[in-house]
Amino acid sequence: MNNDIKKVLISEDEIKEMVSSMGKQISEDYKDKNLLMVSVLKGSVVFMSDLMRSVTIPCEIDFMAVSSYGNKTESSGTVRILKDLDRDINGYDVLLVEDILDSGKTLNYLMDMLYARNPASIRICTLFDKPERREVDIFADYKGSSVPDEFIVGYGLDFAEKYRNLPYVGVLKDDKH
Ligand code: IMP
Ligand code: MG
Repeated sequence: MNNDIKKVLISEDEIKEMVSSMGKQISEDYKDKNLLMVSVLKGSVVFMSDLMRSVTIPCEIDFMAVSSYGNKTESSGTVRILKDLDRDINGYDVLLVEDILDSGKTLNYLMDMLYARNPASIRICTLFDKPERREVDIFADYKGSSVPDEFIVGYGLDFAEKYRNLPYVGVLKDDKH
């Protein structure tokens, strides 16, 4: 285990199981739809690449990169678009794929922005959820697991851009953040 990690919260095998059951559900729910999976970079890139391979129906993918102004562990709700979608989403059933839903401010902002472009539908798929931390009224349509109010890293989630490559999700030691 990485030396900066206090404990493993969710193992590689547990993540695999969660992702495959989410993929199954999405494949079922979107079988007659025009699915566009949108990964919110960079945190969801690992989740997205596994999730899309457990989706068994035709789909397209796209990416958005955003950065939310704030300090290292809190988002401010003001979102800057670093990379927008490549296409017009009019008529698509958009599934926003996120690593973690925390205050909810980032996704709330993105939902409003994307709704204005007239997609057929928009839903949220998040691997992790910290419901205790929610500051805006938003919920995930698909969720891997709720997690306690601790700062977690791995499987795409970072602290100061590090630890994204860990194959499991762990809690950082207190002196590391
Ligand atoms: P929100 O706008 O507060 O919901 O922020 C969501 C974003 O904050 C996520 O996409 C992550 O990039 C980041 N984030 C929130 N909690 C954590 C965490 O525990 N570890 C790593 N990143 C986190
Ligand atoms: Mg993120």
